[in-house]
Order: sequence, then structure tokens, then C-alpha cells
Amino acid sequence: MNSKKSIFTRKRIVTLAIILALVVLAILAFDSRLLIRRYTIEAEEITNSIRIALVTDLHSCKYGEGQSELIEAVAAQNPDVVFLVGDIFDDVLEDTNTELFLAGIADKYPCYYVTGNHECWSGSYNFSVKMSILEKYDIPVLSGETMTLTVNGETINLCGVDDPHIYLVEPYDETKPKEYLDEYGNQMQDYTGRLNAVHEAVPNDNYTILLSHRPEFFDLYAEYDFDLVLCGHAHGGQWRIPGILNGLYAPHQGIFPKYAGGRYDAENMTMIVSRGLARETTWVPRIFNRPELVVIDLE
Ligand SMILES: [Fe+2]
Repeated sequence: MNSKKSIFTRKRIVTLAIILALVVLAILAFDSRLLIRRYTIEAEEITNSIRIALVTDLHSCKYGEGQSELIEAVAAQNPDVVFLVGDIFDDVLEDTNTELFLAGIADKYPCYYVTGNHECWSGSYNFSVKMSILEKYDIPVLSGETMTLTVNGETINLCGVDDPHIYLVEPYDETKPKEYLDEYGNQMQDYTGRLNAVHEAVPNDNYTILLSHRPEFFDLYAEYDFDLVLCGHAHGGQWRIPGILNGLYAPHQGIFPKYAGGRYDAENMTMIVSRGLARETTWVPRIFNRPELVVIDLE
């Protein structure tokens, strides 16, 4: 009788332990608290260090009252510059949360922005509204532009290209080839043209950063001599298994995406892909893939 009772008790303990482990695993898997992800990159051209906050794929998600959680997270990192690398707005959701965030950072740090596909999917009118919000906060939009910046006493070059889907909101230009309106191959053709243009405008050998929403063009970026390329778009591949699988699916990369999030090095270039900040707006939950604010120290 006693032995039967002890087997029963043992089974109950094992069952409870399994349930507890599954609950802990589920809490960890669906944890959507903001994470600070850090990278340090050695840059010979830079004497003083430069701290970059990389913000991508906010999709107008809410981070506390008045976006205080995200604004304070950026402030706690004390960045020298903030790069907003696309899908900061959403094509469906209102711009309110994004605007609150921009209002909270624009007068504290130099900020620079490039478009993502979701801004381009907004339609011409809504796209222009989003651009006017950036203008209201004096945030430059790098739409195929190259500029020279002085950050923390260092002079660097900054290039920015639009998302390839910008053709959806660009005014029709009859001088452009007809194929320009086609989807994949011609989009690449145009994208190469845009990269050529910003690259040719780089005025010196100083450290050069490219802002581009799309990480899937890694091989193309590596053909140029950008030192650092900063991207988003992949949302970390949505589902991850730490140490085993760095992302299950990413737009424009498909399943098992190569550039879902992290650091990718080519011979002369490093690409950092942020897993982005989208959370409540994603129709598939993020698993083992906390939304992240990326902080990069160039030193
Ligand atoms: Fe995107």
C-alpha cells in the first residue's frame, strides 16, 4: 500500500515538474519585453568611439504611455546618433505611436531615416503624411542621398537608400524604362542603380555607413566598399530556437532566412540586421524573439 502511494506521489511530482517546465518555457518563448542588443565593431578610421542606436520595424507599436518605455530605453543608452531604418510607421495602423516616439527623440539626438516597404505600401497620400511627420521633427529622409556627418568629433559618410518598393509611391516617370514597374528583376535593376548613385557620391575615404531596410541584398552590398550596412525588415525570422535556429521565416527571404537578425561579415563590410520592434501588430507571434533596440559601438 505504502509503495503504491509513493509511486502515485512520485508521478504527481513528475507531472507537476513537467507542467511547470512547460509554463516557464512558454513564458520565455512568448516574452515580448524590449531587449537591448549590443554590438561592438572595430573601425580603424574612428579614433573616438561612436554609439549608434538602430531603430527598425516599430510598425507604430505601443511601448508604454506616450512611448515612454522606448524613449527611456534609447536615453539610457546615451547614443551619439539614432538611425531609423524603415517600417517605423505601418501601412495599416495609425501613426500616433510612431509620432510620439519621434517627438521623444528628435530634439535629443541627431536622427536619420530611410523608408521600409510598409511605408511604401501606404499609398501616395498616407506616405506623404508620414514624410511630413518626419519633416515636422526635422528628421532627414535619406532617399538616395549621401551626406557627411560629424558625430562625437568624427567625420563619417552616411548613405541612405529607399526600400525597393518605393516605386509604388514615386511619381510616375515616363523617362524610366517601362520594365521599371515590374516586380522582382527590374526592382533589383533599379536598386543597383540607387546603390551606385549613393556610392558614387561618397566624397572621401572616411568610414561609410549605408542605411537600407533590406538585409537580403547582402551580396550586392558587399560589391561596394561600404564599411557598415544597417538593416531591419526580417523581424528575426519570427520564430527562433536559441542556439539552433536563427529564424523560421522572413519576408523576401522565405523559410530558414540567412539574414534574419544579427551580425554578418563580408571581407570589407559588416552588416547588422535588427530583429526590430514590432510586437502586438504581428499576426504571427514572435517566439524566442524579443523585440530589440540595437546599440552599436564603433571604436
Ligand atoms: Fe519591412
